[in-house]
Amino acid sequence: MSEREVIVLDSAEQLFVRAAEEIVHLAGEAICVHGEFRLCLTGGSTPARTYELLATRFELSVDWKEVQFYWGDERCVPPDDPGSNYNLARRTMLDRLGVKQGQVHRMLGEDPPERATAAYENLLKKSFRLGVGEFPRFDLVLLGLGENCHIASLFPQSPFIHERERLCVAVQVEDNTYPWRLTLTPPVINQAGRVMFMVSGEQKAPAVKQVLEGAHDPDRVPAQVVAPNDGAVTWFLDKAAASMLSNG
Ligand code: 6PG
Repeated sequence: MSEREVIVLDSAEQLFVRAAEEIVHLAGEAICVHGEFRLCLTGGSTPARTYELLATRFELSVDWKEVQFYWGDERCVPPDDPGSNYNLARRTMLDRLGVKQGQVHRMLGEDPPERATAAYENLLKKSFRLGVGEFPRFDLVLLGLGENCHIASLFPQSPFIHERERLCVAVQVEDNTYPWRLTLTPPVINQAGRVMFMVSGEQKAPAVKQVLEGAHDPDRVPAQVVAPNDGAVTWFLDKAAASMLSNG
């Protein structure tokens, strides 16, 4: 059974700072306990400020050479495309931290989707030394929340919401700009030690209420599939995103 914590910050900036502080804390804990921090990054726009803070204000707070960077999903575009989730993290954080290429495990958005998913599954199996039927345990999986309650690239009514075997799949979504995407699956997300949502803005308030207080229906509300087997979920919200919750 996973624990769930909801932390509401007064402003978006306070949310981004608090999220960065939590990542720093979890990094220190993981590196102390097992020598490295296996971090699964999210895309979209919300995490950008937190990534910038990690590379600036918190640059000296983490032993970055012990951090392994992965992604929860990626658009099927080249790594230098403005929409690439890898490109977002590279521009805002990785380049500034000067992490080695061997620490950065991006999804190959430039490859044909099915080839890219097979390659990422092999990368995860090798990186985490997985046996048959095993799932990689990230120390931390970062997630955003779409206005339609999607997480990573698991959208409403996606058949992969119920995926129980594969680690990474290719999905076609209703987005003219980025119609094809690569995403980790629920069993991988739910193997994490910690899942951390970062959600900001009034436009996300209905989705936040639906996920946290609505009827349990992961097909319609994919974020509800998140329930780490042996881990915890932390929601970092600003007041605007939390504004429709019962206790405000
Ligand atoms: C992506 C993300 C996606 C994102 C949500 C929220 O590839 O876009 O992985 O799941 O987290 O769509 O996006 P914003 O942070 O831009 O609102």
